[in-house]
Amino acid sequence: MDLQLRDRVYLVTGGSRGLGRATVDALVADGARCVVSSRSEETLAEVASAYGDAVRTVAADNADVETPGRLITAAQEAWGRVDGALISVGGPPAGPATAMSDDAWSGAFESVFLGAVRLAREVGAVLGSGGSMAFVLSTSVKAPVAGLSISNGLRPGLAMLAKNFADELGPRGIRVNGLLPGQIFTDRMKELTGAASAEEAQVPRTIPMARFGEPEEFGRVAAFVLSPAASYLTGVMVPVDGGMTRSL
Ligand SMILES: NC(=O)c1ccc[n+]([C@@H]2O[C@H](COP(=O)([O-])OP(=O)(O)OC[C@H]3O[C@@H](n4cnc5c(N)ncnc54)[C@H](OP(=O)(O)O)[C@@H]3O)[C@@H](O)[C@H]2O)c1
Repeated sequence: MDLQLRDRVYLVTGGSRGLGRATVDALVADGARCVVSSRSEETLAEVASAYGDAVRTVAADNADVETPGRLITAAQEAWGRVDGALISVGGPPAGPATAMSDDAWSGAFESVFLGAVRLAREVGAVLGSGGSMAFVLSTSVKAPVAGLSISNGLRPGLAMLAKNFADELGPRGIRVNGLLPGQIFTDRMKELTGAASAEEAQVPRTIPMARFGEPEEFGRVAAFVLSPAASYLTGVMVPVDGGMTRSL
């Protein structure tokens, strides 16, 4: 199947590592170009040298009000167009609801929630027909993940906003979806499990496929959902979780 990604331009926030990076891999492999952002200049320098001309990098925090404008400008200056965005960001602090401080909630709200909403609003304003945005959320949209209370609190609201954006932008031919990773072994999963690799970590018995996901398994789904090949898919939450989510 041709995903029709050639020469299309996507913004990928949180794109230097993990699920964002795997999505950049899949998009670029099919001929797209990406503006990749994250906070660390050093990691972005590695990204720039890995992809060459197919990528531009911008050091930007999703919590910063100027980030959407800077990413859009980078895409327009490099290639004169923007076709969509994958909105990913570092996960919120882990911990039980009984122990999370106001500061932990406020910090996560700024980067995970408001940062994503602002990006969708500002990128959505410049997309044309055929544009596509996807929020990287979590299976916590559908069921609470033990020990991730802030994710459990913020992601379901973002999922509803993804539908809200899909409703508002659909008449202009723009699609908006959510992606719900389960347990894909990235740096975030290393932090949460304390294991250095998927082989060393204990696979939760709740995953029917009996293994962690690999970042490229997420990246391929994300690239498809963003691509024109998924032209009638909007307002949905797509789990990429090896069957872990119990609800439909
Ligand atoms: N992996 C999973 O299975 C899984 C499951 C459920 C939900 N999720 C969620 O999916 C998202 C991505 O997860 P991941 O596994 O890819 O995480 P990851 O491996 O930790 O990568 C996070 C990426 O986001 C960047 N980043 C972090 N904070 C940022 C900020 N404030 N602004 C801009 N960029 C930022 C990081 O680079 P810098 O640190 O240099 O900024 C890095 O490129 C997270 O929100 C996570 O909670 C992941």
